[in-house]
Amino acid sequence: MEQKKITLLIRGYHLSELDEPDRNLVEKAREAAGKAYAPYSEFRVGAALLLDNGEIIQANNQENAAYPSGLCAERVAVFYANANYPDIPVRALAITAFKKGDFMEEPVYPCGSCRQVLVESENRFQKPMRILMAGKERVDVVDSASDLLPRNFNHKDLA
Ligand code: THU
Repeated sequence: MEQKKITLLIRGYHLSELDEPDRNLVEKAREAAGKAYAPYSEFRVGAALLLDNGEIIQANNQENAAYPSGLCAERVAVFYANANYPDIPVRALAITAFKKGDFMEEPVYPCGSCRQVLVESENRFQKPMRILMAGKERVDVVDSASDLLPRNFNHKDLA
């Protein structure tokens, strides 16, 4: 029997420790959370995505009365970016969430389906996408979307 251990490196920062571009990306995610359409959960998620050309795309969760028809902020952001900038890699994605009048104390991590979509986008451009998961003051950062979905299913499995 062989055992494999997978390790995950998460860099935990205080918001004030981030460099200016990262802090700005978190700020843009916060701004986007304020525009979320989340009348059912009242859990407002904001995402800000940095393209390789320096452009920032903001998105948020879009809910629906038919609950499963809604979409998470991360996927709204990535699908919009990939649809409109099909040749431009995504360098980073900041995520934050707002509930009951305040930002969540703890960083919010992307759901499983979003992780799968983030990995696809990363593979598509063959460039790692840094993910910044922002809490109220603490920000967890991973260097690549695939860090959040180790041993994932991808194009190589279909080859
Ligand atoms: N949600 C996101 O937008 N991103 C996540 O990573 C987790 C969950 C949304 C989906 C739904 O609109 C609400 O948060 C509650 O699950």
